[in-house]
Amino acid sequence: MRIDILTIFPELFESPFNYSMIKRAQEKKLVEIHIHNIRDYSTDKHKSVDDYSFGIGAGMVMMIQPIEDLILKLKEERSYDEIIYMTPDAQVFNQKEANKLSLTANLIILCGHYKGIDQRLRDHYITKEISIGDYVLTGGELAASVVVDSIVRLIPGVLSDETSALTDSFQDGLLSPPVYTRPADYKGWKVPEVLVSGNNKLIDEWNEKMSYELTKKIRPDLLED
Ligand code: 6GU
Repeated sequence: MRIDILTIFPELFESPFNYSMIKRAQEKKLVEIHIHNIRDYSTDKHKSVDDYSFGIGAGMVMMIQPIEDLILKLKEERSYDEIIYMTPDAQVFNQKEANKLSLTANLIILCGHYKGIDQRLRDHYITKEISIGDYVLTGGELAASVVVDSIVRLIPGVLSDETSALTDSFQDGLLSPPVYTRPADYKGWKVPEVLVSGNNKLIDEWNEKMSYELTKKIRPDLLED
């Protein structure tokens, strides 16, 4: 898998992809993540990437030229499954979408800033728009990091114990049950009896019951359909 990220703040990606699982995935060549600075593609003498918006509504808009040139260069090199624009005015990302995107080969992710990108880029190049929740961030970079992390960990071979992605919260539409480790008794705080019983059938039943009860209490909306 290859992911190309288009940004005016490439430095923001220095840490999120250089630790833990996502770093290991790159070292194992399971994914290539390329960060591109949009400003490098600006052809005007001030290397501008934004300009005043037409009409009313103050604020700057990311201009077409540098972004289009960068997208065209990448599209010439390979074909892309999706060209994604990170923006708060989009459908909200979820696990189902992460699963789908983890099966693709080549993705472009464009990070928005200011008032956003010129609408004509959305009309002519963007194939998918993603928000990560109903709140506003200063730019799409943190959101893109979230999306990339959630996708890359699903690529086979990235997680050391592959089954652990299958038992994540949300994979079955439910929250995860509580987990415990040793000691079984910490200053009188005891691990639930069933988990130390050695009876796998009872343990499975307990986990399922706890998942359901937790979901009902904390995220009843997940049980609606
Ligand atoms: Cl993708 N971008 C920004 N700027 N804010 C957000 C977002 C994205 N998703 C939620 N809030």
